[in-house]
This record gives sequence, structure tokens and C-alpha cells, in this order.
Amino acid sequence: MKIIVTGGAGFIGSNFVYYELNNHPEDEIICLDALTYAGNMETLAEAQKNPQFKFVKADIADRTAVYKLFEAEKPDVVVNFAAESHVDRSIENPEIFLQTNVIGTSVLLDACRKYGIQRYHQVSTDEVYGDLPLDRPDLFFTETTPLHTSSPYSSSKAGADLLVQAYHRTYKLPVTISRCSNNYGPYHFPEKLIPLMIINALADKKLPVYGDGLNVRDWLYVEDHCAAIDLIVRKGKVGEVYNIGGHNERANIDVVKTILQELGKSEDLIEHVTDRKGHDRRYAIDPTKIHEELGWLPVTKFEDGIKKTVQWYLEHREWWEHIISGDYQNYYQDMYGKKEVLEYSRA
Ligand code: NAD
Ligand code: DAU
Repeated sequence: MKIIVTGGAGFIGSNFVYYELNNHPEDEIICLDALTYAGNMETLAEAQKNPQFKFVKADIADRTAVYKLFEAEKPDVVVNFAAESHVDRSIENPEIFLQTNVIGTSVLLDACRKYGIQRYHQVSTDEVYGDLPLDRPDLFFTETTPLHTSSPYSSSKAGADLLVQAYHRTYKLPVTISRCSNNYGPYHFPEKLIPLMIINALADKKLPVYGDGLNVRDWLYVEDHCAAIDLIVRKGKVGEVYNIGGHNERANIDVVKTILQELGKSEDLIEHVTDRKGHDRRYAIDPTKIHEELGWLPVTKFEDGIKKTVQWYLEHREWWEHIISGDYQNYYQDMYGKKEVLEYSRA
């Protein structure tokens, strides 16, 4: 099978690239990524050594580049991870979220229609359901929970989901959608809660907790998310939505304290700061459908996953130091700058 993985130089996409190369060595993986600030070729250095892997630098919203790639490669499957993914950035500058998350998705869907596809999979988020109150622990998001978004990010993701569903109904495009809760693990960009807190704590810098710190997120180890997507793509029913989550709800303040404990640092580093605008209070996924239909269950418990993650950041200082210094953005230029212009890139 030939799979285009968009956004494969980012956090979850890169973990998925490695998951596929390790678990399906017969498959070909083509990573399509625009290398925005969140894309990092250093993350894909190992993948580049595998003859089954190919990297193409292009914007999913660039119709010409995307069509050229589909025409040349005739992929069997597209898994769309490419997105602007950070809620805080969407509050500062919504426009790029619409461009990439909505327009970009529509270009990929059109390419799938034009060139044919066995499966288009949209990697969505639990944020499309809005949030749940803290005082109703009995409530969970199911696949039939109405979409009710809070931020420009989640609205753009919901817009993309609706388009994907429309292409299935109108054009019979063979699609699936997954809506996952918060991921954590290796290669997580240090603007997000867990990696930011680890890196700040290591430098004895203050840990900025938004508001009262009681907001709840439902954490899933990234490899468990990759395993779920792999199953949906290969065995999931066309036209269906699958929620992915492992009942690992934690208040932010508790996550931060766990990280400090793991690193042997003082809780005095915690600093409560101005809350995020429109801050969602609680996310909680009901994963019954994917468990019952596809047999998926998460493997990594939060207590183990957070230890592994802290250890990974301790052992991969170079990776995140290059991000903090900005050096990672030179990597592509250093590696590829002297080569001829890439076939599919706009440049
Ligand atoms: P990320 O920000 O780490 O990575 C995004 C990747 O997409 C980067 O490599 C970036 O260069 C690429 N990209 C951005 N715009 C692009 C464009 N126009 N064309 C091509 N590539 C582009 O994101 P992530 O955390 O890995 O999230 C991946 C996907 O999973 C997103 O769709 C996100 O909405 C979804 N998701 C994330 C989480 C989470 O906890 N991180 C949970 C559920 C769903
Ligand atoms: O639920 C899935 C979503 O999880 C994905 O769709 C998003 O792409 C992903 O970024 C993530 O969104 P969150 O907003 O939940 O993640 P973030 O790491 O930004 O924040 C997690 C919680 O921690 C949230 O309640 C805000 C809080 N926070 C975050 C940061 C960066 C802080 O208190 N301090 C911080 O510095």
C-alpha cells in the first residue's frame, strides 16, 4: 500500500510515520509537509534512511503541488495530520487556521476525488465537541455529541470534519474520521503543556499554569493514537467517525505537579497566569465504539507514559534545544538547499 501522510514532520504525524514503517514494512510512506514552524526534519532523520520512505515539501492548500504529487504517486491511502494545531496561536491569528485546516483539507479531498483513493482518513480532535462541565463526571463525548466549538482552532477542525462528511455523502468518497483527546510523548513541540513544562522545569524557569489550573484534559500516549488510526484506516467502516481516548482525565495542575515530581523539582516553580480566552473546561472521550468495533484499547497508562516522556526529553536535549535556538529550521536548508528544486514544491 502507498500512503500519503500529511503533516508527518509534526508531533503525531512523525510518530505515525515511524509506527507504519515499523509495523508495515511492506508499505510505502510519502510524507507531505509544508515545514511550518511545527514541522521538523530532524524528527524524520531516521525515517529518511528507510527506502520505503519519501519526503515531499509542499503546502496541502497548494492545489497545483498536491495534484502533481497525486498524479505522480497514485496513493492508495491519505492520512491527513497536517494542520495548524495550537489553540493559543489560533486565538492570536485565526486566518492561517482556516487556510490550512479548512482549505487545505478541501484540496486534499478534491485530489482524492480526481485521482481516486481507497481511503481518505481525517485526523480530527475531541475539541470539535466543545467542553464538558467539571461537576458532571458522568458526561463523555460520544460520536453523536453535537459539534459545539470554542476556539478558532476547533472551529476550523469542525469545518474540515463537515467537509469530509459532505464528500462522503455527495461524492461517495471513502472517508473515515477520528477524534482523539490530548496526546503526549516523543517529538511533542514545546509550545504545548507537557513538553513546555518539562523544558521550563529543567531550566528552573517558572511553569505558567493558565487560570486556576483545574481544566481537565484526557491524555493519551501518542503511540496508542497511532495504533488506533492504523486500525481505522485498515479495518474501520467507510463513512464512520471514531472517538479515540483512554479515560485518562487529569487536571492541568496535577499533570504539572507530576512532571515536577518526576524531575525532582520544587512546586514553587508553578506560576498561575492569565487564563486562555474561552478556555475549555473539560474534555473526556467515550471510546466504546472503537473498542467494540475494532478491538482497540490503549496500552500505555498515564503513570508509565509520563515517565517515558520525561525520560525522552532528558535523553533528547539536542532535539528540543535546536527548536528553542531555531536551528531546526535551518536543517532542511542545510540538507536540501544544494539539491535541485523539488519536483512538487512551489519554490
Ligand atoms: P503539529 O503542529 O505538531 O504538526 C503539524 C504538522 O503539519 C507540522 O509538521 C507542520 O509543518 C504541518 N503543516 C502545517 N500546515 C501545513 C500545510 N499547510 N501543508 C502541509 N503541512 C502543514 O500537530 P500535531 O499535534 O502533531 O497534530 C496533528 C493532527 O492531529 C492535527 O490535525 C491536530 O488537529 C490533530 N490532533 C492533535 C492532538 C494533540 O494532542 N496534539 C489531539 C487530537 C488531534
Ligand atoms: O484535545 C485535543 C487537542 O489537544 C488537540 O486538538 C490540539 O491540537 C492540541 O494542541 C491539544 O489542545 P490543548 O489546548 O488541550 O493543549 P495545550 O497543550 O495547548 O494545553 C493543555 C492544557 O494546558 C489546556 O487546558 C491549556 C493549559 N496550558 C497550556 C499551556 C501551553 C497551560 O496551563 N499553560 C500553558 O503554558
